[in-house]
Amino acid sequence: MIKRGVPAFTLLALAAAAQPAVAQSVEERARDWAAACSSCHGFEGRSASEVPGLAGKAKADLYRALLDFKSGANKTATVMHQLARGYSDAQLEAVADFFSKQKR
Ligand code: HEC
Repeated sequence: MIKRGVPAFTLLALAAAAQPAVAQSVEERARDWAAACSSCHGFEGRSASEVPGLAGKAKADLYRALLDFKSGANKTATVMHQLARGYSDAQLEAVADFFSKQKR
């Protein structure tokens, strides 16, 4: 006879996977999110190209810029208006905080 349904150990494994053993702080998660920015803005936001650097800029300025990209208030953006929409405001604030604390 073929058993139907999901075996209990599978459910347990899924539950375990969904819950990281050690809760990550917002700072740790912000570092992960910020890694997605480094391909254009440089490692830890220290840009080596014409893309503006983010490291060491004021958190409020970075956050405002990100919100303006996301809302469309910034009309000159070429890519950031698309990217910023992929993050919640809280995530944008957290990455703004992360980059503000990096050495220029
Ligand atoms: C595909 C390349 C690319 C990626 C990835 C990228 N950016 Fe940008 N970013 C740009 C470009 C280009 C600009 C200039 C504005 C524009 O043309 O959109 C910019 C501008 C900015 C600015 C304004 C900086 C200033 O001083 O004017 C901020 C803040 C910013 N990006 C944050 C981020 C964050 C945070 C991430 C990651 C979540 C990120 N960017 C990912 C290319 C990128």
